[in-house]
Amino acid sequence: MNPSRAPRPPGPRALPIIGHMIDYTRDPLGFIESCPRDHGDVVAVNMLGNRVYVLQRPEHIEHVLVTRHRQYAKDAFQREVMGGRLLGRGLLTNDGEPWLRQRRLMQPAFHRQRLAAYGRIMTTHARRQVGLWRDGEVRDVNADMMELTLAIVIQSLFGLSLDDGADTVGPALARIMEHFARLQALIFPEWLPTPENLGYRAAIDQLDTLVAGLIRRRREAGGGTDDLLSMLLDAQDENGQRMSDQQLRDEVLTLMLAGHETTSINLAFCFYLLAHHPEAEAALHGELDSVLGGRAPALEDLAALPFTEAVVKEALRLYPPAWSIGREALEADELDGWPIAKGSVMMMNPWTVHRDARLYEEPLAFRPQRWRDGLEQRLPRFAWFPFGGGPRLCIGMSFAMMEARLVLATLAQRFRFERAPDDAVELLPSITLRPRHGLKVRVRARE
Ligand code: HEM
Repeated sequence: MNPSRAPRPPGPRALPIIGHMIDYTRDPLGFIESCPRDHGDVVAVNMLGNRVYVLQRPEHIEHVLVTRHRQYAKDAFQREVMGGRLLGRGLLTNDGEPWLRQRRLMQPAFHRQRLAAYGRIMTTHARRQVGLWRDGEVRDVNADMMELTLAIVIQSLFGLSLDDGADTVGPALARIMEHFARLQALIFPEWLPTPENLGYRAAIDQLDTLVAGLIRRRREAGGGTDDLLSMLLDAQDENGQRMSDQQLRDEVLTLMLAGHETTSINLAFCFYLLAHHPEAEAALHGELDSVLGGRAPALEDLAALPFTEAVVKEALRLYPPAWSIGREALEADELDGWPIAKGSVMMMNPWTVHRDARLYEEPLAFRPQRWRDGLEQRLPRFAWFPFGGGPRLCIGMSFAMMEARLVLATLAQRFRFERAPDDAVELLPSITLRPRHGLKVRVRARE
């Protein structure tokens, strides 16, 4: 059947040519919320002539990410826009056989045995942060966590400390995230020398300089280390060929960005939400005090800290840093009785699924205690999916969950969090869901 004649699920009324693109870029979260609210669980949307289906039911998401994953690849936004000048063919934006080869190569760096060493790096950096906060001051915990998680990922995965260039990362990344939230970025190709594109390119150039410096320093330090960067430098394919400089750059930049921005957002929201929910904070302190008794937390303590984990999970539920996940159909399919044409984009949004009242009681409330008594086992598999799923599941999931719990436990053991004046959050839904102007929290030393 001609795909344009095929029956289509309901959806909002579209403008000619541009479709829903303007409504979407004006308010992405409001737009994706309106889809299931006003039209149902499979909603047909048009983005610049491209057919997009917004999915809300966990079993439909499982169909795309797991059951039929071979039929779905990364969508054009990830492949061509994120995977253009910024991330190239790094692990996040690569596909097919080249992706699989790189994933297999990097997987050992995330194995359980390696995580213990990373745990020590994480707690060392968290304890350093304790020394930087002063009783009673208002902090932008988002900025603090960006620096902290960047230092952790660079030391854990690349075996290096942060050097002078690191303070360029924050502003460059903010510029890049603003870029992806603008309609122009989605309409004009990145090679066009518009002022917007030139600013974006300059920000990437800054990150490139930093990455080139990291690779150079690692090469100069020589062999004898087993960090991920050394593994990438030493890797050879079956013909004895080493990775090209471009591929190496793409992988390092991907790991550096994917490995710190998301975890940082999650931690910053943990502090912010605790500042707004003293009863949850009291329960957290109760757990930390009774299990640790004043001793600094270590990796071995995490199993005895379920409430700490629940705070992290609940913050990931309400503010999923990867708020939307996309795939493109490589061939025709069927979903919920609707024909899906080849080339259609499937949009799966942790932001709306995590706030679905059919899945969560009082879905907008911050209630870490909901995770007690095995809620995760009772929920459908993709009711909570901040790390995606299937073969493209986040490679850093265990790393991130360990880091968030260790940093949260270390800082919450020593500080209480209070609301700061003018602490409203403005969200910037870009590649990640970041607080546009940071997150302000007053920190109080605990007795
Ligand atoms: C709270 C923290 C994190 C969140 C919410 C998160 C979320 C995600 C999600 C949703 C995906 C899948 C995207 C898709 O299916 O299209 C992903 C992939 C990925 N993440 Fe994470 N991530 C986090 C932390 C990390 C960390 C710490 C690292 C590295 C140390 C990392 C590295 C990656 C990489 C390289 C991929 C691509 C994996 C592949 O496609 O094989 N992430 N992440």
